[in-house]
Amino acid sequence: MKILITGGAGYIGSHTAVALLEAGHTVVIADNLSNSKEWTIKKVTQIMSKRITFYNIDVTDEEAVENIFSNHPIEGVIHFAGLKAVGESVEKPLEYYYNNLVSTMVLAKACQKYKVMRFVFSSSAVVYGENQVPFVETMDLLPTTNPYGETKVMSERILFDIAKVNPAFSVSVLRYFNPIGAHESGIIGELPNGIPNNLMPYLTQVAKGKLKKLRIFGSDYPTVDGTGVRDYIHVMDLAEGHVAALENLTTGIHFYNLGTGQGTSVLELVNAFEQASGIKILYEVVERRPGDIALCYADVAKAKKDLGWTAKRDITTMCRDSWRFENNYKDR
Ligand code: NAD
Ligand code: WQD
Repeated sequence: MKILITGGAGYIGSHTAVALLEAGHTVVIADNLSNSKEWTIKKVTQIMSKRITFYNIDVTDEEAVENIFSNHPIEGVIHFAGLKAVGESVEKPLEYYYNNLVSTMVLAKACQKYKVMRFVFSSSAVVYGENQVPFVETMDLLPTTNPYGETKVMSERILFDIAKVNPAFSVSVLRYFNPIGAHESGIIGELPNGIPNNLMPYLTQVAKGKLKKLRIFGSDYPTVDGTGVRDYIHVMDLAEGHVAALENLTTGIHFYNLGTGQGTSVLELVNAFEQASGIKILYEVVERRPGDIALCYADVAKAKKDLGWTAKRDITTMCRDSWRFENNYKDR
């Protein structure tokens, strides 16, 4: 199939481009490079020795999006493009609501006009709020405490309503847990701008000596060792989950958790990273970060049953691959 990947120069989109090409699909990428570099697309073509058509456009621009649909026989869309920094979304709510909601509507509209019936959307575990773990797709969504999370809840709702009145539209909403790791080649990986917000890129930059020490946000949570527990998933497992979602789409809208189903604490991740890299990580425990929850992990039964997909790579592999990319990457 010929697939339009929005946000395909970004972290998850670029790895999904590799997985799609590996599975024999053709890829068109649309990205405005607001949080990525064209370099990444060149690296994907290098890994796969295959061509990718790239459009440097903003996907809130209806005309620019329609130009792609009229020039390519697009058969499916995977919509990754979005702003994703939770803290920044509190500072810049309008930017987040505009970018993340208008992009989804513009793409859905183009799909209706050009009769593209396959749509896969990047949602997030953030939509579960403070539900009881493990999070199951049938749970009521709870308030998310930040505009970023609300854009995911609202986008899901918009797609739900569109699917309801368009019986041929097939939508897969994928709720990611915590993606980490990098392609096994060490050639592409996560490239955060500035000081990372997320744990793994922060850890790898401490290991590289770029940052002095890790701050662990709280050690008094009701968890195995007091630090926050998350369901880390290798980005290539996540990428393969998108291929499975696309290839197993059925009409209507379907919601899937993409995680491993396993919780790992901050301290457990630090230990696993030290073992995988052979580098000691300097850290200090500081106050809890506002908005953080104690526990977040997935019930993964539905994706296994409907998509035949489960995550395969373990925490050690995730740490090894994150570190390999950080260690290889020179252009910072
Ligand atoms: P990323 O920032 O690396 O990739 C997003 C890409 O979208 C970037 O290349 C950026 O330049 C592009 N983009 C943003 N707005 C655009 C616009 N209007 N037009 C064109 N391009 C635009 O982020 P990621 O980690 O790869 O995340 C991809 C998607 O998955 C996002 O929607 C994010 O909210 C969601 N998600 C990410 C995580 C995570 O932890 N990384 C977890 C859950 C959900
Ligand atoms: C993981 C754990 C922190 C950094 C965020 C978004 C979520 C989703 C994924 C998009 C927590 C602790 C972190 C640090 C630390 N993104 N930590 N020191 O918060 O689970 O999820 O990214 O949808 O919406 O909220 O991920 O990697 O920031 O934190 O101690 O420097 O590591 O407290 O327990 P989080 P994270």
